[in-house]
Amino acid sequence: MIQKPLALYIHWPFCLSKCPYCDFNSHVRESIDVEQWKKNLLQDLKSFQESTKGFEVSSIFFGGGTPSLMPPSIVEALLKEISDTYPIAPQVEITLEANPNSVETKNFETLSKIGINRLSLGIQSLVEENLRFLGRSHSRQEALKAIEISDRFFKNRSFDLIYTLPHQSLTAWQEELESSLLLAGPHLSLYQLTIEEGTPFYLAASRKDFLMPSNEKSAHFFEWTHTFMKESGYPAYEVSNFARLGKECRHNKHYWLYDDYIGIGPGAHSRLTIEGKKYAIRRHRSPEKWMEMVEKNQSGLHEQIFIEGSTLIEEYLMMRLRLLEGFSLEEFWAKTGYNLFDVIPEKIFQKLEQEGLLRIIPEIELTFEGLKKLNSILTFLLGNRILFK
Ligand SMILES: C[S@@+](CC[C@H](N)C(=O)[O-])C[C@H]1O[C@@H](n2cnc3c(N)ncnc32)[C@H](O)[C@@H]1O
Ligand code: SF4
Repeated sequence: MIQKPLALYIHWPFCLSKCPYCDFNSHVRESIDVEQWKKNLLQDLKSFQESTKGFEVSSIFFGGGTPSLMPPSIVEALLKEISDTYPIAPQVEITLEANPNSVETKNFETLSKIGINRLSLGIQSLVEENLRFLGRSHSRQEALKAIEISDRFFKNRSFDLIYTLPHQSLTAWQEELESSLLLAGPHLSLYQLTIEEGTPFYLAASRKDFLMPSNEKSAHFFEWTHTFMKESGYPAYEVSNFARLGKECRHNKHYWLYDDYIGIGPGAHSRLTIEGKKYAIRRHRSPEKWMEMVEKNQSGLHEQIFIEGSTLIEEYLMMRLRLLEGFSLEEFWAKTGYNLFDVIPEKIFQKLEQEGLLRIIPEIELTFEGLKKLNSILTFLLGNRILFK
């Protein structure tokens, strides 16, 4: 029997401090009950056992928050439970997100020994002034040290940088990226700073404490970054992700290809096909509520919604168009159960093609110009959906 690939996400919701730009489900707590967290994460995982029969685990991702703050004993217990429960793909990718603080770098060796085979480091910047602006709890020196240690234990490693900061000139970013690349492994995530509602940066930006770069300036940064990365042997495979050929993050690609995944821990999302129907499943978001519900119901489940029709198409396109590789009409049909041009008229795609934003043949894919306008293209495509349930 062919096993379907499953990506598995584990959310660790704690951080040493909260960064002012971040709207992830991350919290600062004085102390936590390690044994209870281990028990409850294992229980939340077990609650998926019935609905994930027939799947093979192709990737595992410890994300956060700051999962490098997780006691390695919890990581180890979860990996054991996963391998006792599921067939594991031979080339399984097991990633852990890490912050470059010294407490956490001490665990890198242990983490590599217990099965983590890919590390994603939240460097954010190698410029002291930028780290201060971003409210990071690490220095440039700690970032460099973390990169050096990660290199000893993980061949497959990545780091994240945030760019297009309010005070940043293009020249400063060019110098920063050029020097960062000398330290990089086979993968990099480069995110343009976004101002998220409800964060301290949102308040600061609305008070005009700082002025975000114009769309034009952001577009220049984006263009230069993509061109430079391509010329340096790290072509983009997604809007913000760059890799040597074959070193793309399999876990995140799984999301963008709209394949099945499950998420455990506070606020984690899943997209799972059960008896031919796709479900959006969500865990309780607050760590305390999630703990309470796992203890009471043996699962952190908050809601499970059947997705079909317009919502399914919207989700597929929102995920799939982020990837630079195109998709065929057959793939669209296999993933959604619809013929693309029955749900969005072909002439809508032809219009985008005439404007140089998209290619239809041999596969549907955005051009570089299109990628820069991803959000407005999605709004246009989805706004022209033929209405059905
Ligand atoms: C789950 S987060 C954080 C992982 C880890 N805790 C850290 O901070 O390094 C993953 C990445 O999203 C990016 N990110 C988070 N908020 C952002 C924002 N408002 N704008 C741009 N990038 C952001 C950061 O680069 C971060 O490393
Ligand atoms: S350390 Fe990472 S997850 Fe935690 S608040 Fe900062 S950006 Fe968010």
